[in-house]
Amino acid sequence: MAVCYSVSAIAIVSTFLTIFSLSLFLNSNTKLFNEVSLLGTNECDIYKGSWVFDDSYPLYNSSTCPFIGDTRDCQKNGRLDKEYLKYRWQPYGCNLPRFNGTELLLKYKGKRIMFVGDSLGQNQWYSLASMLHVSQPQAKYIVDRNGRHYTFTIPEYNIWLLYLGNPLIVDIATNKGSRVLKIDSISSGNVWKQMDVLVFDTWHWWNRTGTRQTWNIIQEGNTTYKDMDRLELYEKAINTWAKWADSNLNSTKTKAFFQGVSPDHKECEGKTRPLQSIGGLYPGQIELENALKTMSNSIVRLINITSLSQYRADGHQSVYSYNHMDCLHWCLPGVPDTWNQLLYHLLIS
Ligand SMILES: *[C@@H]1O[C@H](CO)[C@@H](O)[C@H](O)[C@H]1NC(C)=O
Ligand SMILES: *[C@@H]1O[C@H](CO)[C@@H](O)[C@H](O)[C@H]1NC(C)=O
Ligand SMILES: *[C@@H]1O[C@H](CO)[C@@H](O)[C@H](O)[C@H]1NC(C)=O
Ligand SMILES: *[C@@H]1O[C@H](CO)[C@@H](O)[C@H](O)[C@H]1NC(C)=O
Ligand SMILES: *[C@@H]1O[C@H](CO)[C@@H](O)[C@H](O)[C@H]1NC(C)=O
Ligand SMILES: *[C@@H]1O[C@H](CO)[C@@H](O)[C@H](O)[C@H]1NC(C)=O
Repeated sequence: MAVCYSVSAIAIVSTFLTIFSLSLFLNSNTKLFNEVSLLGTNECDIYKGSWVFDDSYPLYNSSTCPFIGDTRDCQKNGRLDKEYLKYRWQPYGCNLPRFNGTELLLKYKGKRIMFVGDSLGQNQWYSLASMLHVSQPQAKYIVDRNGRHYTFTIPEYNIWLLYLGNPLIVDIATNKGSRVLKIDSISSGNVWKQMDVLVFDTWHWWNRTGTRQTWNIIQEGNTTYKDMDRLELYEKAINTWAKWADSNLNSTKTKAFFQGVSPDHKECEGKTRPLQSIGGLYPGQIELENALKTMSNSIVRLINITSLSQYRADGHQSVYSYNHMDCLHWCLPGVPDTWNQLLYHLLIS
C-alpha cells in the first residue's frame, strides 16, 4: 500500500529559490495559528523521563521512504539489530501524544516549516519528511535537494518542509581570500522570518580545528581575533542570534525553536540498547541556555533534547553510514523521530 509517488523534482521544482520567489510566499494559505500561547505553563517537564521499549515502534519503515537513501537508513546499510528502533521517550510526569502526521498536515496546511543549521538539522528534516509521508502514503510528494537547500512538499496539503544548511548561523564573509567569521552579524535572516515554524540548531562546527575549521579569522565589531575559546565563541554566536530573533521574529506569525545540542558519543559501535546512565551536562548546553535566557522577547523555545539523546549511543549510525564511522548522526528511523514528536507536541498542543 505504501507506494511512494515520487515526481521528478527537477521538472517541477527548478530551484529552491524559484519556489520561494514564485509560489511559496504568495499562494500560501495564511490561516492564523490557534491562539495557544507558547509560554503557557507546562504541567510536566517532557524532557525528564526514560526510554521504554515499545513494540509499536518505529513510526515508519525506511523502506517506504526511498528519499532517505543511503545517507541515514542504517537497515539499508546493513545494520541487523532492530531493538534500537523500538524505544519511545516516556516523560515521568505525563504522556506525549502519539505523532499523528495527518493531524500535522491538516493543522499546518499552507505553512512552511524550516530547519536552519548543521547536518543534525538535516537529520531531523529527513525524519519529519518520512513521518509526514507515511501518514499519507498515497499523496504525491516532491523532494528537492539542491546544495544547502532541501525541500519536501506534499502539494495536496501545500505544506513545505525546508532545510537550510547554515552550520554556524552567523555570517562568514570572504575578504581577500580569507574567510572571516563575523561573530556579531547575521545577514541571512530575511528568508527565515518568512517561515511559520523555525527550528535552529548549531554546535558541532564550532569545535572544528585545523583543516575542518571553516574560517581563518574572527571579527567582532572592528576587532579581529586569530582564535578564541570555542565555547565563548559559540555563546557569542547564540547571543547574536538571540538579538536577531528578538528584533526580527513576529511571534504571531512564526513559532521559533532552538534545538538543544545533539550529543555525539566517543563510542557507539556495537551498542544495541540505550545507556543506563549518562555523564553530566554536555558541552554547549549551558552556553546555549544562558544565551537564550538573555532574550527579552521569549518567543523562542528550547527543545531540550540533549540529555535524552545522550542515552542513545545505540542510535548513531556507527559503521552503517555511507562513508565513515559515525557516532554523531543518527539512524532513521531513530532518535530524531523523538525530537520531532516533541516538536509535534509543542506545535499541536
Ligand atoms: C520494512 O519493510 C520491509 C519490506 O516489507 C521488511 O522486509 C523489513 O523487515 C521492514 N523493516 C522493519 C525494521 O520492520
Ligand atoms: C490522526 O488525525 C486525524 C485528523 O485529525 C484523525 O482523523 C485520525 O483519527 C488520527 N489518527 C489517530 C490514530 O489518532
Ligand atoms: C572539541 O575538540 C577537541 C579537540 O579537537 C576534543 O578533544 C573535544 O572532545 C571536542 N569537544 C567536543 C564537545 O566535541
Ligand atoms: C568601526 O570603524 C568604523 C570606521 O573606522 C567607525 O566608524 C566605527 O565607529 C567603528 N565601530 C566600532 C564599534 O568601534
Ligand atoms: C505579525 O504577524 C501578524 C500575522 O501575520 C500580523 O498581523 C502583524 O501585523 C505582524 N506584526 C508586525 C509587528 O509585523
Ligand atoms: C534541559 O534538560 C537538562 C537535563 O534534564 C536540565 O538539567 C536543564 O535544566 C534543562 N534546561 C532547561 C532550560 O529546561
